[in-house]
Amino acid sequence: MCGIVGYVGARDATPILLDGLRRLEYRGYDSAGVAVLAPSGNIVIRKSEGKLNKLIDLVNGDTPRGQLGLGHTRWATHGAPNDTNAHPHADCTGRIVVVHNGIVENYVELRDELRAQGHKFVTETDTEVLAHLIEEELRGARGAGALALVGAAQRALKRVRGAYGIGVFDRANPELLIGARHFSPLVVGLGKGENFIASDIPALLPHTRTMLLIEDGEIAALSRNDARLYTLDGAVVERDPFEVTWDVQAAEKAGYPHFFLKEINEQPSALANALRGRVDERGINLAELDALDFARVKRVVLLACGSSYHAALVGKRVIEEWVRVPAETLIASEFRYASPVIDDTTLAILITQSGETADTIASMRLAKAAGAQTLALTNVIGSSITRGVTATINLNVGPEIGVVASKTFSAQVLLLELIALDWARRVGTLDRARVVELVSQLARVPDLVQAALGSDQQMQRLAEKIWTRKSCFFFGRGFGYPTALEGALKLKEISYLHAEGYPAGELKHGPIAMLDPEITVIAIALHSATLEKVVSNIQEVRARRAPVIALATTGDAAIAKHADDVVYLPHAPEEFAPLVATVPLQLLAYYVAMKRGCDVDQPRNLAKSVTVE
Ligand code: G6P
Repeated sequence: MCGIVGYVGARDATPILLDGLRRLEYRGYDSAGVAVLAPSGNIVIRKSEGKLNKLIDLVNGDTPRGQLGLGHTRWATHGAPNDTNAHPHADCTGRIVVVHNGIVENYVELRDELRAQGHKFVTETDTEVLAHLIEEELRGARGAGALALVGAAQRALKRVRGAYGIGVFDRANPELLIGARHFSPLVVGLGKGENFIASDIPALLPHTRTMLLIEDGEIAALSRNDARLYTLDGAVVERDPFEVTWDVQAAEKAGYPHFFLKEINEQPSALANALRGRVDERGINLAELDALDFARVKRVVLLACGSSYHAALVGKRVIEEWVRVPAETLIASEFRYASPVIDDTTLAILITQSGETADTIASMRLAKAAGAQTLALTNVIGSSITRGVTATINLNVGPEIGVVASKTFSAQVLLLELIALDWARRVGTLDRARVVELVSQLARVPDLVQAALGSDQQMQRLAEKIWTRKSCFFFGRGFGYPTALEGALKLKEISYLHAEGYPAGELKHGPIAMLDPEITVIAIALHSATLEKVVSNIQEVRARRAPVIALATTGDAAIAKHADDVVYLPHAPEEFAPLVATVPLQLLAYYVAMKRGCDVDQPRNLAKSVTVE
């Protein structure tokens, strides 16, 4: 999500920080900032909402000088992307500055406690509690030297629940840069007479190739000539540095040849991030929904485009199943010119990863004008869709660089399911025991997705088989139908191979006429209430000599009799199966596109965010 870079050495910090931020900008770009310890002994902070260029313009001509500093590029989670909420953040005295990537889950509780102790908060961020916590811990510490600061940071971090990668420095310790991490990335770069921290290795490659890993729950104390690692309990950690041998571009893609493949593979951690702080042993915590008046809702419309529309189809089914309120999905570009029957008893759910799709925004305005409550589901805080809606749920999966959706689609599905569950819990349409059971199944989805990634090599082999055929038909029933649509869309978007997604029962109403051995049929035949019907549809297809690839649940030996190839996937309850089954279909699209020599990350004619009609 956010990007961090830190420097301690003999050179001017600001240019190093800005260059590092430029290399990390893919991690977030709604605001940015730097803090540098000036020769006067004061900390100079410059920050700005908007892209990094705005910050660069701001510091040009008035560049903060100093040899200790921190920089940050933000992907907002708590608090709108504006100048105030941009990092770095300081404590009450302006002595300590902090930059942070991640989410402090217990920040409300910590903030209230710190306020009661007299601390003054100036931002809406969760990060600011870190600066005040360290300030508070330092107050009780003996001495003000490096050891006192490291100790205070250790004690402060032990109080934090959630995920963080942080950088800290202190006016009173001009030789010390601190980094720490827990579930958010941070590395140390070791230079000659200078040391660095960064969220990601590429930010540091112009300066050094020697890196030191910080593991979760560890803290790094860096001076010009020294780098030490400790646990939060103060034990010294001995770890050898390593040399980076890959180039910058590959590193930004974490070693993957394409962002799309990287983003497919990071879905387990992305989905865990989407759930972080929202689901735990106590149940669901979706405070964002408090702004909605569910008692008023008699009807739901889910509005979206592209992959987001496929996520909406899953959302509709779970809302009807669990909440028992009629729900309808509409493609936003159709909805806005129809005569939709909407009033103040309608809840319009707007699903858009970019938050900028013109048709979805227009639909939101239409629904709002008709009196409907509006809920936005987006990956970009502060995007246009979030302005004026009743409530917003952020996907929290970090920027998606590949033009076609992968991890954002999965997160949309997952969070629509969580929204439906929370709604059902609030209005009592599901009993407590059932909610607990479904929540625990939902929490296992990241692991199931990880297991589904095990299909990678098989999907490569299947791509070899099908890439020259003339077309590919995907079909499924129930929750398998949106999965089929998404599989077909991925394939056509990035490989330009003709593909169609169909409800399995509709095959005989048209598409069956086209089938022949040159058309691959991909059947979503996972464990479900309608599996037998899907198997009958597979038989109809095979009778027409079209080769069949079935996605089936591990243990279903019988399906092998009906399909030419079977891709086995871990068992998931029907409602969560689209999250598992989409993974091999994304991989298949990727490997077919590779065989066909396509530009996977920037397919022809497509755009990541379609801000025109
Ligand atoms: C474009 C993208 C798709 C995306 C669709 C909707 O077509 O290429 O990947 O699904 O827009 O985008 P949104 O940002 O509204 O989810």
